[in-house]
Amino acid sequence: MNANEHIEAHESAVKHVTGRALYVDDIPEWPNQLHVATGKSGLAHARILKLDLSAVRACEGVVDVITYADIPGDADVGPVYGGDPLLVDEVAVFVGQPLFAVAATSLHAAKVAVEAAIVEYEELESILTPQAAMQASSFVLPEKSFNRGEVNAAIKAAPNKLTGEQYVRGQEHFYLEGQVSLCVPDEDRGVLVYSSTQHPSEVQKLVAGVLGISLREVAVEVRRMGGGFGGKETQAAGLACLAAIFARRTGCPVKFRMPRQDDMVQTGKRHDFWNRYEVGFDETGLIQGVTMDLAAMCGCSPDLSEGIVDRAMFHADNSYYYDSSRITGYRCKTNTVSNTAFRGFGGPKGMIAAESMMDDIARQLGMDPLDVRKANLYREGREVTPYGQTIEQHVLPRLLSQLEASSQYRKRREEIARFNKSGSHFRKGLALTPVKFGISFTSKHLNQAGALVHIYTDGSVQVNHGGTEMGQGLYTKIGQIAARALGVSRSRILVTATRTDKVPNTSPTAASAGSDLNGMAVLDAINQIRDRIINFVAGHYGCSPAEVSIEDDVVKVTEKTFQFEEIVKLAYMNRVHLSSAGFYKTPKISFDFQKGVGRPFYYFANGAAVAEVIVDTRTGEYRVTRVDILHDVGKSLNPAIDIGQIEGGFVQGMGWLTTEELLWDGSGALISNSAANYKIPTAYDVPEEFSVELFDEENSEETIFSSKAVGEPPLMLALSVWCALRDACASIADYRFSPPMNAPATSEEVYRCIRLARTHLQKVKTND
Ligand code: MTE
Ligand code: HPA
Ligand code: MOS
Repeated sequence: MNANEHIEAHESAVKHVTGRALYVDDIPEWPNQLHVATGKSGLAHARILKLDLSAVRACEGVVDVITYADIPGDADVGPVYGGDPLLVDEVAVFVGQPLFAVAATSLHAAKVAVEAAIVEYEELESILTPQAAMQASSFVLPEKSFNRGEVNAAIKAAPNKLTGEQYVRGQEHFYLEGQVSLCVPDEDRGVLVYSSTQHPSEVQKLVAGVLGISLREVAVEVRRMGGGFGGKETQAAGLACLAAIFARRTGCPVKFRMPRQDDMVQTGKRHDFWNRYEVGFDETGLIQGVTMDLAAMCGCSPDLSEGIVDRAMFHADNSYYYDSSRITGYRCKTNTVSNTAFRGFGGPKGMIAAESMMDDIARQLGMDPLDVRKANLYREGREVTPYGQTIEQHVLPRLLSQLEASSQYRKRREEIARFNKSGSHFRKGLALTPVKFGISFTSKHLNQAGALVHIYTDGSVQVNHGGTEMGQGLYTKIGQIAARALGVSRSRILVTATRTDKVPNTSPTAASAGSDLNGMAVLDAINQIRDRIINFVAGHYGCSPAEVSIEDDVVKVTEKTFQFEEIVKLAYMNRVHLSSAGFYKTPKISFDFQKGVGRPFYYFANGAAVAEVIVDTRTGEYRVTRVDILHDVGKSLNPAIDIGQIEGGFVQGMGWLTTEELLWDGSGALISNSAANYKIPTAYDVPEEFSVELFDEENSEETIFSSKAVGEPPLMLALSVWCALRDACASIADYRFSPPMNAPATSEEVYRCIRLARTHLQKVKTND
């Protein structure tokens, strides 16, 4: 493959950096436009005894105030199971939950007004951690398990066993553009909604629901988001619904843009997980049996937690064959904001348990963790996952060997061993970790997509599809796909804003499946028009369709050639339909959740990373000095964008595992509620040496131009950093002790592990 093939800059790159890209908040305001703010619960769990809003109504600029009773239609905006009232009815279930909403002539006026409310509460008992929820059997949904073999017997019979446990904190999305919606009422009952959402069709559905009108009366438009990362799959809808209610009540356009702090407090995040495991293994590190208990802090309602914990369970094997296993997922109900999708969708939480277990086994046996990982990789003869899907394309054994060589893992391991014996206050750590990530929504019906393609009489082409652009480059890839499929230059193609009245009933742009699904739907639409044109030309010139081709903007008919627009015009004059809707549904997938077996994923995306860190053992401070990544995107649709996704995903994963510490206080209030006390990675945190390569192998399944999804999987490559930090700490105890590290591995957490390793070493020495 030509390495530069299909490289193309993001369609909005110049607009992004020059500030000309329009986001919802950039849309010019109407003279009568109103702005929304919400009044919030001050307690984690409380009955509302009194809500006196008279002072709020009297505030300057306030035009309208609503409570639960004013919601005209369905007040529940829960995406799958419900449980998410737009405004509190009687009982508030987390700190920050909206009790009422205000529409005012400016955002400032609205923010000032909400503070004037008088609220009286009867405080109720609250549950604030997954551990407490497990103790109290407080769940948003029932537990599920995948069971294979006689796992207890297998662990008992194994020559070695160990148990492990870790607490893995959640993550704030910190999209640069916060949650925002703008609703414009129409002349009848409907509204047009501009929303920063990954799921326009769901915003449409929920807005129609709260207004008590039909779906056809609501249109949702999304040109782009300034980042979504899963945080705008369900959480964007509430803003649109409140703005829509005010728009209908007042007849004015209404914008609801959440200030950053409200966004951090009021919208869901990545789940905290409390993971426990028990494993039995032989002298070579080969796993004989595993049990894993994954307990997620879902918050106050189900939101997407069913699927998120399912995906954690589907990735509790990461890349390893478990033989006998029991993997159980718990969906803990807590009095905190309802947690939601975040890049990886539960996958990272299952994988960290697997990776931490690999290190534990290595320390117990005195092996290099890479050897334990390699021994347990899926391969021929050991290829069936705990949920019954067979791994058909074995990418990882070859990918790992290639990365091991290109990163000079063994040589560096020796150098680091020498360095760590040198008596310095600094310790170095190294880890190579793989990722295998299942591609498909685990809710089967979401694996469908639609597209709408128009060719105009000047030969220019408009492409619309159900996916949304959040910076990941979907529109760029779709433009490239359309040009390639039609045989015309990229400059003819315009990908237009996503709209529910152009392509209906769409799935969220999520599960990394945006280009897989929408790319195929666009291909379908284009193939239909292309066939129509070719058949018409063949009939017109009296040749067979096989003698007509469209390539590089030129239509060849036997030995004659025409410019593409000439043929388009001719086709139009001869009444050929030059517009088409396309559709795609992913083949081969099905899963029986009762039995816990099936094929939930069409295929797997793979990758691996080697991270090296240096730790100051006096303070626990550290730097990530070098990272080498080899990642499998099949045949890349756009190597520049794919590498950008890998770099961005990796650094975002590093943030989750190192510096981003999501914390609540003892009363359930979020402490990490601003950029000042929640530390996302900066340019300075990017590894000094950072190499990203694409693995050269096409998808063995039929996908859009044999590519693979890229959006989420690279985030989990950052587990290599977490494992490398643990490796540096383990070196203090001569690599025979696996410090029980939680995540994120902040400097404080690393320092705690250093001290544990020292204590262990001391104990060993005293016993000798
Ligand atoms: N990249 C950017 N720049 N911004 C984002 O919000 N979201 C991620 C990933 N990459 C995101 C991103 C998530 S969570 C998903 S699921 C995918 O992009 C969604 O887009 P895709 O399916 O088109 O890859
Ligand atoms: N991934 C991401 N988002 C989702 C999924 C999934 O598997 N299912 C429903 N929403
Ligand atoms: Mo991504 S978490 O599936 O939006």
